[in-house]
Amino acid sequence: MDPRLIESSLGMAEQKATNVTWHEHNVTNAERQKLNGHKGAVLWFTGLSGCGKSTIANAVDRLLHDRGIHTYVLDGDNIRMGLNKNLKFSAEDRTENIRRIGEVSKLFCDAGVIVLSAFISPFKEDRHQVRNLLADGQFLEVYVKASLETCEARDPKGLYKKARAGEIKDLTGIDSPYEAPESPEIELDSDGQSVEALANEVVCHLESKGYFGV
Ligand code: ADX
Repeated sequence: MDPRLIESSLGMAEQKATNVTWHEHNVTNAERQKLNGHKGAVLWFTGLSGCGKSTIANAVDRLLHDRGIHTYVLDGDNIRMGLNKNLKFSAEDRTENIRRIGEVSKLFCDAGVIVLSAFISPFKEDRHQVRNLLADGQFLEVYVKASLETCEARDPKGLYKKARAGEIKDLTGIDSPYEAPESPEIELDSDGQSVEALANEVVCHLESKGYFGV
């Protein structure tokens, strides 16, 4: 069995199908990166609802796209309206949500794309499992840091208001936990800086670490 399958089955979900055999790709990841002229990577944006993950991820997407870099944004709300429409916000469903997105992000990365994954992903262990799916340097945790007070004041979707009124349950930061990253590759101060400045910070980080060449 391919070691990656064993690792996945140990870490995040049981391997249920038997009699499956890993088929090696003919075109390698290195060849795809060479064709693209840049590395593939997963930028994993994590933080409270309303902290700016999707907005910043989309701003980075624009900057990179305009430089000719192949990118794609995976966003919590959007994915929950398609691939993960059968999941709610229990701890178990959030873990499964992140497991699936981790696998999808890995596929994008293998295809040579810089994928911008924006999910609350409140549990350290779930994020750690995604990191483990990827090779060294392919996973960058981006902690979009904003206080609960800031997120609640912004309340772009009216969710905090609903949670305080008891109309919805399990809202992260209110009655569901958020475990902040301890040593993210990038930490963005979303309380104090503009979207443009934060997006530029991410691009500068990628540039300084050599992601825009092969
Ligand atoms: S995660 O916790 O499983 O990573 P995900 O990022 O996919 O969450 O989805 C979060 C989005 O779902 C939020 O941006 C928000 O718009 C919406 N949402 C609706 N209900 C909740 C809830 N109870 N907790 C968190 N997000 C919610």
